[in-house]
Amino acid sequence: MQRFAHVTGWGMAVPERIVTNAEISKSLDTSDAWIVSHTGIHERRVAGSRETTGTLALEAAEAALECADVLPRQIDLIIVATSTPDNIFPSTACLVQDTLGASNAGAFDLSAACTGFIYGLGMAANAIRCGSIDTVLVIGSETMSRVVNWKDRATCILFGDGAGAFVLQASSAPGGVLASTMRSDGSGGASLVLPSGNGRSPNGNGVDGGHDHHNTITMDGKEVYRFATKVMASSTREVVQAAGLSMDDIALIVPHQANRRIITSAARSLGLSEDRFVMNLDRYGNTSAASIPIAVCEAVDQGRVRPNDNLVLVGFGGGLTWGATVVQWNVTAKPEVSPLHRLNRQAVYGLSRVRSAVRRGLRRAEDLLGNNSTDADKM
Ligand code: UT7
Repeated sequence: MQRFAHVTGWGMAVPERIVTNAEISKSLDTSDAWIVSHTGIHERRVAGSRETTGTLALEAAEAALECADVLPRQIDLIIVATSTPDNIFPSTACLVQDTLGASNAGAFDLSAACTGFIYGLGMAANAIRCGSIDTVLVIGSETMSRVVNWKDRATCILFGDGAGAFVLQASSAPGGVLASTMRSDGSGGASLVLPSGNGRSPNGNGVDGGHDHHNTITMDGKEVYRFATKVMASSTREVVQAAGLSMDDIALIVPHQANRRIITSAARSLGLSEDRFVMNLDRYGNTSAASIPIAVCEAVDQGRVRPNDNLVLVGFGGGLTWGATVVQWNVTAKPEVSPLHRLNRQAVYGLSRVRSAVRRGLRRAEDLLGNNSTDADKM
């Protein structure tokens, strides 16, 4: 039996705090007029002290599970695409797995900068299609406000925080993710960098000491701009062809939300009107790996996506990386959520938090007993 990977749930989360261009202009040599004319961005969301990439990912994930009416134990795999994980490890995906109580799921973070969600969607769809798993939660989540240099007017004005999530499920009905492409060119890596602070960079704790550095984004804006305008159009064409479709079959294009001018330029080179593109960067800025799923969620909520519409999701980012996906949106109506399932999910979330605390306690107890018996053995 041929298998297809359908999007059955979607959800998003953004912090409450809105930071306008006017607010940034109070402490930086910039202006609302410059930012709007060069990027199209009016405001962005910034995480509060209790919000992290993990909490935003969890909120988006819970909304997507609710939408798909899927129980946490049904999830086989959780992928979190992020450049701003809460930790390098444990992964943000493991954090989400634990808090959701997704007791049967594998979980990992995926690093492909702003293209991360497209990569995650492609990998998830392939894993479903080849029959190894049935249900995947793909999340893009970022707290970019924590990794920009707020004194660098060329970068800090661009980014924002947020998360978006899809539930992908196996089905024998044709449709869902029809094609996806993933590309990279590491030779252009230096044009957009977020240093890790580990590995390559001395951090003052090594045997040879080190020097101070700040782990913030550096970017050659013009270089990234040139690359972006080129690959947005070429990947869209390539993925549409790979799906066996023509541009006329595409209802809507959901591009990575980096800069209005990049999207306008892509529309021009594809010969399409801008109305065929979803744009919400005016309100959120560039939320990196979260930008595409957030834009899809809003387009669906606004009724811009009709049943069986073909969508192109197309992204680019650091790496350099780029890629695209064609998704046939086979959702005829938001599924009726069973109240029993909703209760069940809430109970699982509550229980999994308790279970996690108990497991941590047991590990500590085991550790103590283990240490004691080792001590006893020595005697
Ligand atoms: O996910 C991928 C993330 N990255 C991107 O998508 C970035 C792609 N690149 C871009 O979007 C654009 O290159 C920017 C929006 C970053 C910059 O726009 P630009 O039209 O390429 O401006 P520019 O870098 O050529 O700068 C023009 C002028 C410069 O001043 P001078 O040298 O002409 O006096 C900059 O110093 O604008 C100045 N400038 C600013 N002025 C006011 C740069 N940033 C600002 C600012 N406010 N925020």
